[in-house]
Amino acid sequence: MEAFFLVKNGSADVAFERRAISLKQPEALEVAIEVEAFGLNFADVTARLGLYRDCPPLPTVVGYEVVGRITETGSDVNNVSKGDRVIAFTRFGGYATHVVTDSRGVAKIEEDYPVGKALALGVQYTTAYFSAEMASSLNPGEKVLIQAAAGGVGTALVQLCKHKGCKIYGTAGSEEKLAYLRNQGVDVPINYRTQDFSEVIKEDLDVVYDSIGGSTFKKGFKLLGPGGRMVSFGAASQLDAGNFFSKIRFGLSFGFYHPVQFIMNSKSLSGVNMLRIADHKQHLLQHAIEQVAQLAKEGKIDPYVGGVYPASQLNEAHTALEKRKTMGKIGIVWEE
Ligand SMILES: NC(=O)c1ccc[n+]([C@@H]2O[C@H](COP(=O)([O-])OP(=O)(O)OC[C@H]3O[C@@H](n4cnc5c(N)ncnc54)[C@H](OP(=O)(O)O)[C@@H]3O)[C@@H](O)[C@H]2O)c1
Repeated sequence: MEAFFLVKNGSADVAFERRAISLKQPEALEVAIEVEAFGLNFADVTARLGLYRDCPPLPTVVGYEVVGRITETGSDVNNVSKGDRVIAFTRFGGYATHVVTDSRGVAKIEEDYPVGKALALGVQYTTAYFSAEMASSLNPGEKVLIQAAAGGVGTALVQLCKHKGCKIYGTAGSEEKLAYLRNQGVDVPINYRTQDFSEVIKEDLDVVYDSIGGSTFKKGFKLLGPGGRMVSFGAASQLDAGNFFSKIRFGLSFGFYHPVQFIMNSKSLSGVNMLRIADHKQHLLQHAIEQVAQLAKEGKIDPYVGGVYPASQLNEAHTALEKRKTMGKIGIVWEE
C-alpha cells in the first residue's frame, strides 16, 4: 500500500513523495476501498502552495476523492457492499492506493463507467449540485453567472443549470476555453482576461456562482437583481496575492456588506464548504453524491475529462491545474 505524501510546500516536483502506508480497520460507518484512481482538485493545489487553511500539518496525504472497489465494510454500512465499484469522497488521504472513508460520502457506479467521469462526480459535481440545488434553490429558467465555467466545478454547474433550462453567462480565461463553453451550451461565454463581465452583462441576474473571490466577487454581487442569490465557494484569485499587503488588499477587494442591503433587495449570500458538510452534515453529502451518480447513470449529466494521468505524472498534472491549463476533470490512475 502506498500514497503520495505532501512533504513540502512549493512546486509540484519537490512537494510530493511516494511512501508506504498502512490502513486502519473501518469503523461502524466506514468502508475500506482499493483505489483505481484519485482526482485532483484545486484545493490540492492551494494545499501544496501552503494556502489552504484546512490542510493538516505536513507530511500529509491530500486528496478528496477516489474511484475504487470496496474491500471491507463497517458493521453499520448499508448503502454499499464488498465488491462494489464506487466513487468516494475522502477527507484528505485520497492520493493513495487504499483508503478508509465514511460510507455516507460513497455511491455505487457502473462497472463500465469511465474512471475520469466517475472522479468528477466525487467533489466537483457534488459541490455543484449542493451549490445549485441546496445553497441557491435554483429554479428553471433563471439567469445565472458561472465564474471559471470551464473548470471542474464550473463544467458541472453549467450542466446542472443547462438541465434546468437556465440562461447561462460563463467566464473563462482563454479562447480555447470559450469554445469549450459554447460546446457545453453556455449562452454567453465571456473571456474575463479581455472583457469586463460586469459590462457585458446588461440584465439582472438570479444567481452568481463565484469561485474566484476578491473584486470578481464584488462585481458579481452587484449584478444580482431582487431575489438574487450569491453562492461563494472559492477564492482562486488568492494565488495572485503575493506579500502580506497584497493579501490584505485582496481581502478588502471583496467589498463590505450590511444586512439592510440584503433585506431591501431580498438578496442572499451562501458560503459553501463541502469539507464542513462532509464532517457535520453527512446526510446532505450522501444525498448530493447519490443524486449526481443517478443523474450520470441517466445520462442527464456527462462530465468532461481534461486528462487522466498515470501516477508517475502526478507532478505534471498538478502543475497543469495550477497554471490554468486544464478544463473539466483531472485524475490520476494507479498503474498495474
Ligand atoms: N468550497 C468547496 O467545497 C469547494 C469544492 C470544490 C471546489 N471548490 C473551489 O472551486 C473552484 C474550482 O475548483 P476545481 O477543482 O473545479 O478547479 P478548476 O476550476 O478546474 O481550476 C481552477 C480554475 O480557476 C480559474 N482561475 C481563476 N483565477 C485563477 C487564478 N488566479 N489562479 C489559478 N486559477 C484561476 C482558472 O480558470 P480560467 O483559466 O478560466 O480562469 C482555473 O482553470 C476552486 O476555487 C476551488 O477551490 C470549492
